[in-house]
Amino acid sequence: MAQKEMESLWWKEGVIYQIYPRSFKDSNGDGVGDIAGIIEKLNYLQDLGIAGIWLSPINASPMFDFGYDVSDYRAIDPVFGTMKDFERLIKEAHRRKIRVIMDLVMNHTSHLHPWFIESRSSRNNPMRDWYIWRGDKKGEYPNNWMAYFGGRAWEWDEKTGQYYLHSFLKEQPDVNWRNPDLKKAMFAEIRFWLEKGIDGFRLDVVNFFIKDNLFRSNPFGIGKYPRPYDLQKHIYDRDRPELTELLQAWRALLDEYDARMMVGEVVAEKPHPALAAQYLGDGTDALHLAFDFSFMNNKWDSSLFKKRIEAYHGSIPKEGWPCTVFSNHDQVRSFTRYGRGDDAEKRAFVLAMLLVTMRGTPFLYYGEEIGMKNVRIPKSRIQDPVGKRYWPFNPGRDGERTPMQWSNEEYAGFSKSEPWLPLADDYREKNVECQLNANGSLLNFYRDLIALRKEREALRMGDLMFNDITPGVLSYMRSARKEESCVFLNFENSEKKYSFNASGIWRVLVSTHRKSGEQFHSFEKLFPYEATVLESIRKS
Ligand code: NOJ
Repeated sequence: MAQKEMESLWWKEGVIYQIYPRSFKDSNGDGVGDIAGIIEKLNYLQDLGIAGIWLSPINASPMFDFGYDVSDYRAIDPVFGTMKDFERLIKEAHRRKIRVIMDLVMNHTSHLHPWFIESRSSRNNPMRDWYIWRGDKKGEYPNNWMAYFGGRAWEWDEKTGQYYLHSFLKEQPDVNWRNPDLKKAMFAEIRFWLEKGIDGFRLDVVNFFIKDNLFRSNPFGIGKYPRPYDLQKHIYDRDRPELTELLQAWRALLDEYDARMMVGEVVAEKPHPALAAQYLGDGTDALHLAFDFSFMNNKWDSSLFKKRIEAYHGSIPKEGWPCTVFSNHDQVRSFTRYGRGDDAEKRAFVLAMLLVTMRGTPFLYYGEEIGMKNVRIPKSRIQDPVGKRYWPFNPGRDGERTPMQWSNEEYAGFSKSEPWLPLADDYREKNVECQLNANGSLLNFYRDLIALRKEREALRMGDLMFNDITPGVLSYMRSARKEESCVFLNFENSEKKYSFNASGIWRVLVSTHRKSGEQFHSFEKLFPYEATVLESIRKS
């Protein structure tokens, strides 16, 4: 394959690692992670074998939602460093063949963004229509739309006597993507980063971008939480058909540059793989990747995993490509979500193999590679606005955003001073340094798996076919040209009788229970929580 073509496939073949910059590595001792800290850890990421990093927002922000409220798209927030630091990060990452993906938060801005300050200054301001203003009688809401983080989605503005829309916090007013000037201004911001050499974007809440032009009220459905937002069917405040056209224009902009990509966050209340896949268009004219969050709430059950993978993969267009994600900065970490007592550790190995050997781009959230758990945050230290509002019913998202556990030094080697969020109580035993030195650690398992994925075309790009073997075990083939790999994942803490008798000779590539390199014709059982990937070495 030509070098250029290979490079354009980086986001399909490689593993992408999500960094929550506040919590990754603090270089200046203020207790908050920063860009220089990320640069210090690039060698670690290179050794882990990842192809790209996605950074949660680092743009200038008053931090009402920790960067998901941008006040200047072209500036780096001083808490993370300077533009020079960021340019150095791009250069240093590229030197190690690591791509850099930025979070683009463009459904809304901060209420302190100059555009919104203009927009709210008077009804006649040329930027008035860059945001969504409706209604002119206080107390009479324009419709029944609710904010995702609680309360009405409409905030009254005393000075100009109208409501503005905010799908999240009132400090995050939604922009009006139907306004051509706003769109032009946003596209100029995107181009600014493309010119700087950014390799890709993660599009925050992409399915919220366009709202119903008639502002119809949502019908009621049956929600899961006692949160008014969940009692509605969100058919008018998101997932509007006009989004297709906007994403096409967005894709055309990226296609002007080589090998750039975008991955969209598609919000849905319950598993809805077809919705995520819909935003891939025909696979060439919309998003490159779309997150399907079906796994975020499902039980540890191999048949459920299979069902959900099949549903998602089944809705991907022919030219499209899936991705796999088990954790992020908004969800309880997989270790805590799927783990029960001693089983948590073993399940983390099974999940690691599933993530890295599944067809589609794996997204790995920082700390998952060492099995970080969700931390219970005392009320006095809650930072997340969601936790502040809903505690104790919902403690918010700080628990999955705690500092990376680098070593057993004070503050886990994350910082020289007290971190912005408490550390997990297990950091002295569970950290990067000790796992690098331990045979059989989760971190070394991830490193082996990622190295294997790099080596083997079948795992990177091959077809996927499930084997129906025995309940509690997920098994599949990955094949490409002459290569064939077979994966066994025993989801249960019990031995499974199973006669593996496929034709030819098989060799262990990576396994929790078998020696790599071991060869055999057949085997009779799978060990409790065994995760094994084999390759076929000779057809008989
Ligand atoms: C989704 C992001 O992942 C989340 O962290 C943020 O709070 C909301 N979008 C609002 O931007």
